[in-house]
Amino acid sequence: MRKIEDKRDKNRTFKKDSSFLKAEENVFDVPTLKLLYTLANKGYITEMGGSISTGKEANVFYATGNEGEVAVKIYRLTSGTFKAMDPYILKDPRFSNIRHSRKDIVFAWTQKEAQNLLRIRKAGVRAPRPIVNDRNVLVMEFMGKDKIPFPLLKDTPLDDADAQNLFDQIIEGMRRLYVRAHLVHSDLSEYNILVDVEKMEAVIIDVGQAVTLDHPNVREFMARDIENILRFFKKYGIKEDKKIISDRVKERNETDELFEKELEEIDETDSKDIS
Ligand SMILES: Nc1ncnc2c1ncn2[C@@H]1O[C@H](COP(=O)(O)OP(=O)(O)OP(=O)(O)O)[C@@H](O)[C@H]1O
Ligand SMILES: [Mg+2]
Repeated sequence: MRKIEDKRDKNRTFKKDSSFLKAEENVFDVPTLKLLYTLANKGYITEMGGSISTGKEANVFYATGNEGEVAVKIYRLTSGTFKAMDPYILKDPRFSNIRHSRKDIVFAWTQKEAQNLLRIRKAGVRAPRPIVNDRNVLVMEFMGKDKIPFPLLKDTPLDDADAQNLFDQIIEGMRRLYVRAHLVHSDLSEYNILVDVEKMEAVIIDVGQAVTLDHPNVREFMARDIENILRFFKKYGIKEDKKIISDRVKERNETDELFEKELEEIDETDSKDIS
């Protein structure tokens, strides 16, 4: 009975006519599909929905699971520009002992993204909650409502007051990341920030490349993040000095120490292997 039920559930999860299989027939290899089935059997995914995004290295899908709406980010094993990952991950002390085969880099990258999401949230910055990760698949909280993802910052209509509000949130977010979580996003722009328009809140996403402060290129990454944000907000009349913002991002206040301590206690090597 259990077996039959499992089988029926599997069929429901990956309906033959679903846009998932149709659109992605050629994208996913057998190991990735097997991994998705395992996640389905464990209830993390009950139904795979449509594609939200097809990026250079990863695809993001809408799905539902035991915890409600989720986003499933699947890093491609067979195509993509993984050379681009090297400068971020190979010099990250947290990943100094990974083997350098392409697959290993992708798996470490996925794990790093899940860890970074956790750290970012613990620092008090809004980001998707990581639910489970294994190999090249990351299941996380869906940032959106009723199947519709929140818009990217770049696509959100804003008046000047909204813009100022979001700008302040983003700079404070960078500060919390830096001071509390010891992280720099390193690909921050209007493309990797979603806006919860109802609450007018910024949500940080796409954090696989975020690095710790001991990374040798961290200053350069932070300068670029700040430049991107200043460039985007210029059209809303926000003119701030790079150096002043950089100082603001490094400034600590009384509340930071508690967060910092708690963050130090997270075991960075703890990965969830679900299968
Ligand atoms: N948790 C989430 N909830 C809702 N939508 C999401 C979520 N994560 C990602 N998305 C959507 O998917 C898009 C792509 O996600 P993300 O930026 O993480 O990957 P990417 O840019 O494709 O990554 P890469 O460039 O490394 O391949 C986002 O712009 C956003 O619209
Ligand atoms: Mg992105």
